[in-house]
Amino acid sequence: MSKACGQIKPCYLVKPISVTLVTGRYLTHQRGLPTLPVPPLQQTCEGYIAALEPIIELDELQHTKEQVDEFQKVGGVGDRLQRALEKRASDTENWLSDWWVQVAYLEYRLPVVVHSSPGLVLPHMNFSDKQGQISLLHLYFLPLYNNETLPVEYAGGKPLCMNQYYEVLSSCRIPGLEKDSLVNHAKSSEPPKHITVVHNFQFFMLDVYNNDGTPLTVDHLSIQLDRICSVSLQSDAEPIGILTTQHRNSWGKAYATLISDKENKESVSAIQRSIFTLCLDGPMPQVSDEMYLSCAAIQMLHGGGSQWNSGNRWFDKTLQFIIGEDGTCGVNYEHAPAEGPPIVALVDHVVEYTKKTEIMQSPMVTLPMPRKLQFNINPEIKKDIEEAKKNMNILAKNLDMRVVVFDQFGKNVPKMYNMSPDAFIQMALQLAYYRMYQRCCATYESASLRMFRLGRTDTIRSASSASAAFAKAFDDPSKQNIEKIDLMVKALKAHRSYTNMAISGQAIDRHLLGLKMMSIEEKLPLPAIFTDRAYGKALHYQLSTSQVPSKTDCFMCFGPVVSNGYGVCYNPMNDHINFAVSSFNTCKETNAARLTQAVEDALLDMRTLLDQTPRAKL
Ligand code: COA
Repeated sequence: MSKACGQIKPCYLVKPISVTLVTGRYLTHQRGLPTLPVPPLQQTCEGYIAALEPIIELDELQHTKEQVDEFQKVGGVGDRLQRALEKRASDTENWLSDWWVQVAYLEYRLPVVVHSSPGLVLPHMNFSDKQGQISLLHLYFLPLYNNETLPVEYAGGKPLCMNQYYEVLSSCRIPGLEKDSLVNHAKSSEPPKHITVVHNFQFFMLDVYNNDGTPLTVDHLSIQLDRICSVSLQSDAEPIGILTTQHRNSWGKAYATLISDKENKESVSAIQRSIFTLCLDGPMPQVSDEMYLSCAAIQMLHGGGSQWNSGNRWFDKTLQFIIGEDGTCGVNYEHAPAEGPPIVALVDHVVEYTKKTEIMQSPMVTLPMPRKLQFNINPEIKKDIEEAKKNMNILAKNLDMRVVVFDQFGKNVPKMYNMSPDAFIQMALQLAYYRMYQRCCATYESASLRMFRLGRTDTIRSASSASAAFAKAFDDPSKQNIEKIDLMVKALKAHRSYTNMAISGQAIDRHLLGLKMMSIEEKLPLPAIFTDRAYGKALHYQLSTSQVPSKTDCFMCFGPVVSNGYGVCYNPMNDHINFAVSSFNTCKETNAARLTQAVEDALLDMRTLLDQTPRAKL
């Protein structure tokens, strides 16, 4: 028995999660969910104009209003597209989800690293040697061995679509020359039985099931992982995985070269089919305690550059569990098949399981040696690797990431004042941004559409006329506190009300996208509202934000979506809030540390204002 087994966690000798996909209970649940509605055209047009008000000039707004009126008039092009969209909605399970995967992900050509794939940082684990690192890996096998279908999740008392859970295992993004594709091998008649492990840039195929279909026990896994580590001690292998960090067109081209070799093709296919990838990382940069979480976020988001762990990944893989040798651990996931919440819920589930104490003794068996995946690297592939390293390092240098644990309060304080914590945090972000730039910007907050079958997300537009009035008034010495409070309450209510619309499928953004996609499908000239400058401004999200809550004290992080913007991900716990804020160093106007500080100040100032106001006035 390996030494690592001294620290083993429980194991569950039952069927893999992928099998549950076909169970009747899951299908009955899915079929019972409502389908995504198409909002009324007039409602979306009015909502669009309202969303533009705080972010564009008056004369521009007037021009857009005229275009919108033309678009929505009876018998106009909007009417025609609306009817076509309603027909699509009645003919499909979800009128949006296929389009969304294509447009938001597979046709998006920037590298998935930083620009699309989020990172997730788990609480630091206390171990200091290889054995400890290996023992922790067991944690990640547990959901595979769960003996029941994942429990259905609810929001506001309504059941949620569980499909995304079944899209993240055994799946992978495949690069193309102009657009990518997705494969999901869990749905095949013979679901994969192996994971891939990468250590010192070398990939291994590790079977996690025995021939009789039972999963490997924890101590058997430990033996196998020990073996992998001991045969990959050298760190001078070519970091083949770094190719996956490239611009998608370049990677698509390099991919064609790579898999033109038969052995390479087989190795790549083994990675693509694997249940997930486990990245056993080397060291990460030594930083001060204050910067530790930011550095951990960078490791999960992009690996730190070619000199650190960026080559110890396969970024096309939907799920990559990452374990650093110093106890830093987390996940990187490719966004096309799923959003953050199901990934975090999976991690919560795993962490819960590790608290159980049941231990099983494994029978003595001879385990086959995990297979090392071979790559033949010709001069052309070598050149592609060097190019990828160079670009990855530029990207790594460009990304600024600040993680802060705001420890003055969490959800508890807004709740105490009968306010939505999410709306409170979003309004603090609006105030912080306004204080830094004296203006509002288009702001994206993800809203889950999982109340609907195959639902993904829509956009909560956090910058509203109400939020602008609140932010403008907050530091205005001519305003009384009572007026500021009134504006704050109105801004929070407006945010919560838009959130309710968004999660009920009544927001504007995906509907507008649907109308635009419909005009492309119908081969009509693109309506003027979509070529208008205002539409471009509405989609230029200088604040791209998302709440990803969890039971575990972890946090998710992602990059900005525009060159002069910020990415802000937060996890509101009961008495503190984890924030991960990113920006690009090449942009002189943005600064992640400054925004982080401004958000903390805004939260405190908003609370002070509340504390100073008599309850009866709230
Ligand atoms: N008074 C007191 N309590 C309140 C309140 C009020 N006025 N309004 C809300 N609360 C409570 C809620 O009941 C909830 O309680 P809980 O902690 O016991 O669960 C808590 O405050 C949080 O509510 P709120 O802050 O309003 O947010 P939410 O949980 O409704 O989430 C969204 C809002 C938009 C984040 C959520 O609906 C969503 O869509 N999440 C998806 C995010 C996503 O997909 N991200 C993608 C990342 S890749």
